Parts: sequence; C-alpha cells; structure tokens
Amino acid sequence: MGKRTVNIVLMGLGNVGKAFVQLLEEKAERVRQQFCLDLCLRAVFKSGGGLFSASPIRQKDVYEMSAAGLARNPLWRPGLALDTVLHEVEPGVMVECTFSDLKTGEPGLRHVRTALENGWHVVTANKGPLAVDFKGLKEIAGRTCRALRFSGAAAAALPALDVGLYSLAGTDILSMEGILNGTSNYILTRMAQGSGYSEALREAQAKGIAEPDPSLDVEGWDTAVKLLLLANAVMGLDLCLKDMKVEGIKAIPSELLSEAKKEGQALKLLGKVSRENEEFKAGVFLSVINRSHPLFGVNGTNKGVTYSTDGMGVVTVTGGKSDPCGAAAALLKDIINIYRWNKN
Ligand SMILES: NC(=O)c1ccc[n+]([C@@H]2O[C@H](COP(=O)([O-])OP(=O)(O)OC[C@H]3O[C@@H](n4cnc5c(N)ncnc54)[C@H](OP(=O)(O)O)[C@@H]3O)[C@@H](O)[C@H]2O)c1
Repeated sequence: MGKRTVNIVLMGLGNVGKAFVQLLEEKAERVRQQFCLDLCLRAVFKSGGGLFSASPIRQKDVYEMSAAGLARNPLWRPGLALDTVLHEVEPGVMVECTFSDLKTGEPGLRHVRTALENGWHVVTANKGPLAVDFKGLKEIAGRTCRALRFSGAAAAALPALDVGLYSLAGTDILSMEGILNGTSNYILTRMAQGSGYSEALREAQAKGIAEPDPSLDVEGWDTAVKLLLLANAVMGLDLCLKDMKVEGIKAIPSELLSEAKKEGQALKLLGKVSRENEEFKAGVFLSVINRSHPLFGVNGTNKGVTYSTDGMGVVTVTGGKSDPCGAAAALLKDIINIYRWNKN
C-alpha cells in the first residue's frame, strides 16, 4: 500500500493540544509503518492567531508559544484565520481542542462547521459543538461526505463509542449506563474511604484531577454531555441537554450516604438511558449499586459504560486513561481510523 500524506490543523494548544502535538511526534514512525499514513501538522491555533508553515510543524516549533515567545516565533501569524489555512492546504483533518462551552458551543462550533464545509474531516475533543448542534453537524458531515469523529469528547481513552458503534452494530441497545466523569468518581471513591466531600475535592484539585473550577464535573453536566454524545451516536437518539434530569455530587442526601455505607454497596454518579413505553429517557443520577452491578468495581478516576443489548447481552467496557494524554491518544486513534476505512 502506498504511503498517504494527511494534513492536520490543530485548534487549541492547551493541555490536550500540547499532548497531541507530542504524541504525533512520538508515534509518527509507528503510524507510517503500520498504517502507511504520514501525519503532517500544518497549522496550530491559539486565541489571537496561529503557527502556519509550508513544512510540517514540529514539537520544538510550538515551545515558543508562550505569550512572551509568540512574537519571536518565526511561524507565528497574529490574527491568522482558520478559513485561510483550510483554503491554502490540501484537505485533511481539523483537530478541535479549544475549551468546551456547553451553552454556545463556541468557538469550536464555528471551527467544526467551517472545516466540514471546506471538505476537511473533523476529530474533536471539544464537547461544546456536539452538545449544542449534534444533529446539524452530523447533517453537514453527511452532506459533505466528511468524517466527524468525537471519541476524545465522549469518554476519550475509554473506547465506549467505538464499542457501541462497531462492536455492537446490528443489535438493539435497550439501555446504557455509564460512569463517565473521572473527577466525580474519584471524589465518591475517596468519600467511600472516609473523606468528606470538600476534603476529597481539594485532594483531587491538588493532584490535577479536578479543575480549579470543577462545576461541570461535580454538578453532573460533564457526565450528561458524554451520555448525550454516546446515546445520540450509538442509539440514534436526538437527546438535548435541556431534556435531561441531571444530579451532581455536591449535596448528597444523607440517606443515600448511609445506604451506600452498607456492606457490598457503592454510591456512583451514573448517566443512564433507558426505554420507557417506547420512549427513551436519559439523565444523570446518584445511584447506590450493589456488588453484582457491572460498574461496581469502577473506582478512582476510572470510567466505564455498560450496554444492554438484545442480541449480545450485557457488554461492559471499563478503564482508559483520564487525562490529556489519554484524550490525545483518542484523537490520534480517530484520525487513523478515518483513513483506515475511508479512501477519500
Ligand atoms: N483536559 C482533559 O483531560 C480533557 C479530556 C478530554 C476532553 N477534553 C476537552 O478537550 C478540550 C481542550 O482541553 P484542554 O484541557 O486542553 O483546554 P485548555 O487547556 O483550556 O486549552 C484550550 C486552548 O484553546 C485555545 N483557544 C481558545 N480560544 C481559541 C480560538 N478562538 N481559536 C483557537 N484556539 C483557541 C486556548 O488558547 P489561549 O491559551 O491562547 O486562549 C488554549 O490553547 C476541551 O474542550 C476539553 O473539554 C479535555
């Protein structure tokens, strides 16, 4: 098989973007050998501009991306627009790693639409665009025959999406349950070991597990949006965040805490989708589960999803790294799999 060059444009150079640039370099040779793909980073954007080069951008080129170093970086173009790059470079994959805004989807929503409309495939770690306009973005991808992949946004290194889409293809998925947020699961695990909520949260922040503002995680919204992405993609639903009942872990009712303390019980924050009278209901709930539940042993920052199907029974997938490196690996996997199946 002949080698294929794939141009890559990266939006956002934060924790995940940096990990992705590093991974591209580390895995370049393996990807070339095993998949005959030459992944070629052509532009890297931050807010305010980007690096753009005719030759591949290397990890050393992005070291000079700190505020002080930008002006010194010969590749830096202040005010560079995504459209400019997409028009000047042969289409490949736009990788979206800007911050997730679950209310407006911006700036990622504009990036994803622009890339698809200009004939680029999209791989995103950003949940915002899909939370706001899942259906619309899938429609553009279908019309332009481009791939829209989002493992990085839907539980990242846990291959929940791939299992649902590929391994369970052709079955009816009757219900789905997931522990989808590493921060809240870590806090609940520490609470089960005797810590108070505030103490466990402080510990998670000190270890870099929880963000300085952990609201989306501890209020259940991060779980809700991942559940929405999985259910809409795998079960073909049309869920919106506003239709979901969402509980968090900030104020746990005392009766749940005491029930969870009983032998063989565990308190988990579960995203759930199930069928009730021909209608699917979805939400995020504090749930006490017992030892026989497939997600009972998912502790700490680990995540897991259980699908109940008609033809294949109950299928559970657990594990996967919950950090920027795991998210970057999910982005790389999605890129490889686009070209593995798609010769366009
Ligand atoms: N962190 C994780 O473990 C993880 C795991 C899975 C998914 N995710 C998702 O991955 C995405 C990135 O996460 P992160 O932790 O890397 O976030 P982050 O550290 O906050 O980085 C965000 C990056 O986006 C850039 N940016 C902001 N506005 C932009 C614009 N208009 N155009 C281009 N770049 C822009 C920022 O640049 P400036 O610094 O110049 O503003 C920054 O480099 C998020 O959507 C997050 O939800 C994260």
